[in-house]
Amino acid sequence: MYYIGVDLGTSAVKLLLMESDGTITNIVSEKYPIAFPHPGWSEQEPADWWAAVKKGIPELVSGIDASKVAGISFGGQMHGLVVLDENDEVIRPAILWNDGRTQKETDYLNEVIGKEKLSEYTANIAFAGFTAPKILWMKENEPDKFARIKKIMLPKDYIAYMLTGVHCTDPSDASGMLLYDVKNRKWSEEMCDICGIDQSMLAKVYESYEKVGTLKEDVAAELGLSPSVIVAAGAGDNAAAAVGTGTVGEGLCNISLGTSGTIFISSHEFKVDSFNAIHSFAHADGYYHLMGCMLSAASCKAWFIEDILKTDDYAGEQGKITDDMLGNNNIFFMPYLMGERSPYNNPNARAAFIGMSMDSTRTDMLQAVMEGITFGIRDSYEVAKALGIDVKRTRICGGGAKGELPKKMMANILNIDVDVPANDQGPSMGGAILAAVAAGEYSTVEEAAARIVKMEGTIHPDPEIAKRYEEKYQRYRKLYPLLKEWY
Ligand code: XUL
Repeated sequence: MYYIGVDLGTSAVKLLLMESDGTITNIVSEKYPIAFPHPGWSEQEPADWWAAVKKGIPELVSGIDASKVAGISFGGQMHGLVVLDENDEVIRPAILWNDGRTQKETDYLNEVIGKEKLSEYTANIAFAGFTAPKILWMKENEPDKFARIKKIMLPKDYIAYMLTGVHCTDPSDASGMLLYDVKNRKWSEEMCDICGIDQSMLAKVYESYEKVGTLKEDVAAELGLSPSVIVAAGAGDNAAAAVGTGTVGEGLCNISLGTSGTIFISSHEFKVDSFNAIHSFAHADGYYHLMGCMLSAASCKAWFIEDILKTDDYAGEQGKITDDMLGNNNIFFMPYLMGERSPYNNPNARAAFIGMSMDSTRTDMLQAVMEGITFGIRDSYEVAKALGIDVKRTRICGGGAKGELPKKMMANILNIDVDVPANDQGPSMGGAILAAVAAGEYSTVEEAAARIVKMEGTIHPDPEIAKRYEEKYQRYRKLYPLLKEWY
């Protein structure tokens, strides 16, 4: 049988077709636009996501007997606010995870309601990109539209709804709304009251690997699939990426370098960072995870190479960064193009290059950008270490980790081993695995991951390079406190 994994990303939807044993048969990607209607705001049209999924699936299954597709599931960009009216029509464009418009509402939640209460109700505090502050923003700034809300959904859940007609979500994605009691895996009544919404507006929560329904007849016909195809709830993209790299069960780590950059530590037990600098969320395997999220990772590199250097020759530009240059760069880049989430929680932070001299080159600047992304991951890694979490090795995935150089930087800047999965598809692979579990091919997510996910090799830190990077990181981490007031 075949399973479809849908990675509903920020720049595109990535669709992956997997056979029962984990063999990848096809991958298709469809882009869609993102709007920045004001500096720091970011929005997308749910109709564009749906159109991309409807265009991509027939192409994905074109070379196979489509009646053998048994399941579909998801990894989706998290935290986005999708609001539907009484006819299930979208009320306004979705407000995305990297949108920073809710400083006022975030401050209200953290300072007036109070971080302690938020942490007690949800295991997390408010961050500008989370869903609850966006609901408060709509209430204040778009009261007419707010009054029409009948359903509040997350991006991938909108696609599940369009496929099945069921309003559903899963614990990993629900965790990022600040409306969900992560420890007890249920909606928080207190948070619904604080946000002025009724719990009936929130979707039914299924475990990520549970079936929520089957394809609607008309949708199945349009996609060229059987109406018996089951749809499983799926997960937030980081939890799905963790499933796709086998980061499930106790104490494993995955780093994902997509538009955002995340460090994700799986755990059988519920844990919480007492300072809430990193998130305490439910995992797609039925357990929990801790996660640090930087808002701009691969997007910093894309911005520098495509928008500033005006080229798309990633390999050519990166190829000029040779091993002897690692740890010897005098330029620093602070990767805050969209503000920063973990660990600083500052939507007003902005990116900066520091330390250029007359002999600095474009290659030095690109190296600084790539190092700045990796230093940003190290910032969250330090928070995890301070919690007593002993991470000795990590897995890695995402477009920003393609090629040897980003992985080598990660190994040396964090000074840990980096295990490289044989396929780096992350969320779409995770989605397909979750669908296979829901269909009964595997009895648990852990079992599926153990049987499907293979590592292709490990990159070890080089003691000399790691030592040089340690010094650089100690200089780097002094920069944010210096610039904080200026922001
Ligand atoms: C995680 C987060 C991002 C998005 C990106 O908290 O905000 O990783 O999920 O799609």
